[in-house]
Amino acid sequence: MEKKNIDWGNIGFGYRQTDYRYVSMYRNGAWDEGGLTTDDTVTLSECACVLQYAQTCFEGLKAYTTEDGHIVTFRPDLNAERMENSAKGLEMPPFPRDRFVDAVCEVVAANAAYVPPYGSGASLYIRPYMFGFDAVIGVKPASEYQFRIFTTPVGPYFKGGAKPITIRVSDFDRAAPHGTGCIKAGLNYAMSLHPIMEAHRQGFDENVYLDPATRTKIEETGGANMIFITKDNKLVTPKSDSILPSITRRSILQVARDYLGMETEEREVYLEEVPEFVECGLCGTAAVISPVGKIVDHGREICFASGMNEMGKVTKKLYDTLTGIQMGHIKAPEGWIKVIK
Ligand SMILES: Cc1ncc(COP(=O)(O)O)c(C=O)c1O
Repeated sequence: MEKKNIDWGNIGFGYRQTDYRYVSMYRNGAWDEGGLTTDDTVTLSECACVLQYAQTCFEGLKAYTTEDGHIVTFRPDLNAERMENSAKGLEMPPFPRDRFVDAVCEVVAANAAYVPPYGSGASLYIRPYMFGFDAVIGVKPASEYQFRIFTTPVGPYFKGGAKPITIRVSDFDRAAPHGTGCIKAGLNYAMSLHPIMEAHRQGFDENVYLDPATRTKIEETGGANMIFITKDNKLVTPKSDSILPSITRRSILQVARDYLGMETEEREVYLEEVPEFVECGLCGTAAVISPVGKIVDHGREICFASGMNEMGKVTKKLYDTLTGIQMGHIKAPEGWIKVIK
C-alpha cells in the first residue's frame, strides 16, 4: 500500500480529510450494522438535540507505525469503556465496546495510506464521537443517535524537543463538583474555550483548574491530567471525581511501578504543596507527557527544579519508557498494543 505524499514532519495538528469514516445510526432502540463511507458531511435537523442541548461526547486516540512496520493503536478498549461512561452520563445509548474497537480498526485499516511512517513522529489521530440526531425542543434526550469515527493525520507534538511550558491557575472552573468533569462531554470543552483564550492572551500556554468545591486542590488542565515528581522520586497524581480518567495517566502509573520501580500515589494534591515537587508534567494522548516548567498562581511563580529548558529527568524516563512500549522497542504489558495491520 502506497502512503500519501504528505510532509509528515510538518503537518501540525489540524483537520485534514482522509478517504473513509465509519458511521452507525441508532434508531428504534438499536444500532444499525454500520460501516465505512466516503461522505465527510453530516446532514441533520436544525432542531437536532446536539445543536440545541449539546448532547455529544467523543474520544481521541492515535494509530501509528511501529518499528517492525505494523499499524497499531494503544489501549482502544479503554477509550471504548470511557465512551460508554460518557454516553451513559448524557443519557445516550452506549455504542457497544467490542464494536467500538472493531470500528476503530476498520476505519484505520481503510485509511492506512494516511498512517504516517515509523520514525516520522507523526500519527493518525482517531476521533470517535456520537451525538443526539433527531429534533427535540423540550429539554430531553434525543431518540436517534449517530456514532462516527473519522481520522486525520497529525504531526509530531514536539518539534525540536519538548520545551517546558508555563501554565496559570485558572479563575474559571472546568467542571461542577458533581457534574460532568469525569466524562468526555463536548460541553466540558465548550466551556474551556473562553478560559484558554484568556490564558493565551495573557501569555500562558494552558490553564490548570482547581477543584470547584474548595478551590484548594489541583485538578487537571483543559486537555490533560497532571503528574508530579517528589524530591525522593515518587510519582504523585491528583485524584478527583471531576477529572477525566486519562488513559495515558493510568498507563504512566503502571509504567512507573512495574518498569521503573517507583512508588506512586494517587491522592488529593493541594495547590499549597505544589512548590515541594521537583518535576511536573501534563499527560494525555496528544503529547504523552508535556513538561511543565512553571505554574503561575495570580502572580506567584512556582518554578520546578527541572527548569524551563528541558524535560525533568524522571519525567523523561517515564516518557521514554511509555513511548518505547508504544513503538514496540520495549515489551508491552498484555493487551496494551492492538495490532490493526
Ligand atoms: C480534560 C482531559 N483530561 C485528560 C485527557 C487525557 O486523556 P488521555 O490520556 O486518555 O488522552 C484529555 C484528553 O483526552 C482531556 O481532554
